Amino acid sequence: MYSFFNNQFLPAEKAFVHVSDLAVQRGYGIFDFFKAVNGKIPFLEDYFNRFYRSAEFMQLPVSLSREELKNVVYELLQKNGVADAGIKMVLTGGYSPDGYEIATPNLIITQHALTMPSSKMLEQGVKIITHEFRREMPLVKSINYTTGVWLQRNVKAANAYDVLYHLNGEVSEFPRCNLFVVNANGEVVTPAIHVLEGITRKNILSLSGMEVKATTVTLTDVLQASEVFLTSTTKRVVPIVQVDDAVIGNGKPGPVVQRILSELVKKENA
Ligand SMILES: Cc1ncc(COP(=O)(O)O)c(C=O)c1O
Repeated sequence: MYSFFNNQFLPAEKAFVHVSDLAVQRGYGIFDFFKAVNGKIPFLEDYFNRFYRSAEFMQLPVSLSREELKNVVYELLQKNGVADAGIKMVLTGGYSPDGYEIATPNLIITQHALTMPSSKMLEQGVKIITHEFRREMPLVKSINYTTGVWLQRNVKAANAYDVLYHLNGEVSEFPRCNLFVVNANGEVVTPAIHVLEGITRKNILSLSGMEVKATTVTLTDVLQASEVFLTSTTKRVVPIVQVDDAVIGNGKPGPVVQRILSELVKKENA
């Protein structure tokens, strides 16, 4: 497998950053992740917009223009000869002389195998747990997943699939996914602020023939919902049927989540 490192393609096992990188020293860096399906990348412009936006906010200049970056991504896919894959673009804080100051970023692009949710998961839905937390810079796709990684033990111990962050009664997102709820009024809603603007979330918000709103969502809204689901690039849409000890709706995935999933797949293939 090839990776791309700054200005060249390298065998993945030869792509290293130095220990002085701010990513290693301070967890400073950003990334983005998207999937290639049949050699095509749905919504690539959206992922690029988010990547350049995160980079700018974090004061990390990207050495390649959008056009150059796009060419690199497609060349990587071609070199690796895999039509279905996850692509990760990481931009680090760079080799910092004093271990604190931002330096020239390193750009690392790697290709990964894609795993989609199992059909059992989609048919039966999953359990999630909750945790009081809010990400430090929610709009930035930071490489810092400290709390999410740390909570893996709790997720496993509860036999759950993921953990939903909440603060002051309001829910935000999962470590790697956004949240949607069909609330007690039958409205499809997703938290408006304190979240990463997921590309899957964006696509669902703009589905035609369906009203989906970004607004405040409380923990009570979640517990009283008829349907709850999480969304992300790799997972698409996964129904949630249990939140901590509470069963959602009738404990089975509902019609809205199924409809949204099929609309999303159509949009991906359009
Ligand atoms: C914090 C966070 N929220 C939401 C998402 C979902 O975003 P997307 O739909 O673009 O994959 C991610 C993706 O990794 C994430 O890291």
